[in-house]
Amino acid sequence: MQFEQKVVVITGAAGGVGQVLARQFAAQGARLMLSDLNHDSLVSVAESLRETGCEVSYLAGNLRERNYCEQLIAHAVTEFGGVDILLNNAGIIPRGTIEETTDDMWFTAMDVNLNAVFFLCRAAIPVMKQRGGGAIVNTSSVWGTYPGPAHVAYCTSKGAVAALTKNLGRDCAPDQIRVNAVCPHEINTPMIRTGFERRGLDPEQAIEALNKTVPLGRIAEPEDIADVIMFLASDQARYIAGETVEVTGAKPVSG
Ligand SMILES: NC(=O)c1ccc[n+]([C@@H]2O[C@H](COP(=O)([O-])OP(=O)(O)OC[C@H]3O[C@@H](n4cnc5c(N)ncnc54)[C@H](O)[C@@H]3O)[C@@H](O)[C@H]2O)c1
Repeated sequence: MQFEQKVVVITGAAGGVGQVLARQFAAQGARLMLSDLNHDSLVSVAESLRETGCEVSYLAGNLRERNYCEQLIAHAVTEFGGVDILLNNAGIIPRGTIEETTDDMWFTAMDVNLNAVFFLCRAAIPVMKQRGGGAIVNTSSVWGTYPGPAHVAYCTSKGAVAALTKNLGRDCAPDQIRVNAVCPHEINTPMIRTGFERRGLDPEQAIEALNKTVPLGRIAEPEDIADVIMFLASDQARYIAGETVEVTGAKPVSG
């Protein structure tokens, strides 16, 4: 049991990658504090994990609210006595060039993708210090380091998450808190599938076409990304801090 008794906070736990993270950490003995905006899906994820014997708590809410972010960490402390691992996995992807990006799209992307990561890290780090260390894995994107086309709010927010990760990686290392980020390319989750639907495309066909653009032959499944996040959170990555790890199947950003 790689994460026996470790307290793991997971945001976006009802989403594509988040559900897999919750399942995989539960299978390795972790105690879970789960977060998502979608209350009903979050409850069903938590209940199904409880049935396997995992210790799970959850708090549904909106990451746009600083109070909710702070409550989430406080709740983990009340329920489990602290936090060992924070996985800032939740995210949204508004689509648009700068001229198509409304104030609302911009501020929502910054709030969910960046500001919540700041609030959660700021609340969790003192708690981790009290335990003598911890690990944070943020989810950025290759589109944060090499911008993809016509997603200016998303790419900017994810680029800032990469920069925040490197800053915290440097500053928190003396406290034995390792902060890293994963930077995936396309993943087969509701995020990408609903994006295709909104554009009037059949998700199956669109993913089939996307698979052909990846040198490894397919876009990532949620498990491909969850495994890298687990590695970065684990003791096997004990000397990795302040890194942004690209997980792309060798596909460059283009277009
Ligand atoms: N899917 C991709 O192609 C892809 C590529 C690169 C990076 N990513 C990143 O991976 C992470 C996981 O994405 P996914 O593909 O599993 O997406 P997803 O849409 O399946 O899941 C995201 C989850 O975040 C939750 N969420 C959204 N807004 C929220 C808010 N305001 N408050 C609380 N929760 C909120 C949603 O309810 C959802 O359950 C995200 O950070 C995303 O940006 C995804």
